[in-house]
Amino acid sequence: MGVYDSPWLQANPDRVKLLGPVCIGYGHPDLTTAHKYMTDFGLVEAFRDPETIYYRGYGVNPVVYIGKQTTQPKFLGVYFEAASLEDLQKAAKIPGASAIEDFPAGGQVVHVRDPTGIPFHVVFGFEKRKFTPPQRDGQPYNFPSSNDADVESKPRRGKFHRMEKGIIPVHKFGHCGVVPADIKISCDFYCTHFNFKPSDVMLGGPEKAVMLIFFHVDLGQEYSDHHSFFLAAPHGVLQPGRPHHAAFEVESIDKQFIGHDYMDSQGYQPFWGVGRHIEGSQVFDYWFDLDGFLVEHYADGDLVNEDTKIGWVLRHPKDGSNWGPGLPSPGPPVK
Ligand SMILES: [Fe+2]
Repeated sequence: MGVYDSPWLQANPDRVKLLGPVCIGYGHPDLTTAHKYMTDFGLVEAFRDPETIYYRGYGVNPVVYIGKQTTQPKFLGVYFEAASLEDLQKAAKIPGASAIEDFPAGGQVVHVRDPTGIPFHVVFGFEKRKFTPPQRDGQPYNFPSSNDADVESKPRRGKFHRMEKGIIPVHKFGHCGVVPADIKISCDFYCTHFNFKPSDVMLGGPEKAVMLIFFHVDLGQEYSDHHSFFLAAPHGVLQPGRPHHAAFEVESIDKQFIGHDYMDSQGYQPFWGVGRHIEGSQVFDYWFDLDGFLVEHYADGDLVNEDTKIGWVLRHPKDGSNWGPGLPSPGPPVK
């Protein structure tokens, strides 16, 4: 048994139960152009103060992205929702954690840093929004059948695909990854203090070293996203302390292609997509924001629960999709 296959099994009465991700924060030197970018990406301004803009999607969380005015591009950390006030209080007892403070979007927050210095935040007590999905213009898919009367294979009958082009609305912030200086130390930290459990562990190189660990929040029998957080080992441009990417859910694969075309029409820099991942199964589309941070539109991801076996995956990192373009080289720019 090693650090990767034991920590979440260790008895820890002070483990913080998290329900899922809420939002992510970045600092931008030019918040005006960053605002245009995030709006084109599909986020909606919820509220602002003199130095910060808070964005929402159409899901229940009041904020999914925090853009802050900073002198240099900066990763400000991910925010996860605690299951209870008691869990938030447990977070405040993690070594180095802040006291409980007010969270600008409502409720309270505790600021944590993992042992490699990466910021991580726990929030609780904010008011949920009403789920307000845009009017669905997609229609069911028709599949090949020997008989056009086969309603099960061909449910779209007398209705047509007519979709609006332009900005595609984001539902929620779904996951992010970070690059800790020591993936073993950080894995142990997150699995010891929080209910993160690996879904898939990617191994690479001649020594089959751990390259990437996808975590879901362990909710027992209840299902949760295949990954809401992940750790990537430093490699090439993936320097310690950097975020890997931040992913936001959109409604459908059709919407992703519409969004891809819109982002392209605005002259933004694509990175990778549209394609479908293997681990997590999401249809992905990665873009560089104006400060070089990677953001992703995704749709149709997997759900897992405590019955899902951990995957130990040995595969070339460039071969990470069911379909779509190959992983570009050399990787994201570092700013
Ligand atoms: Fe992703």
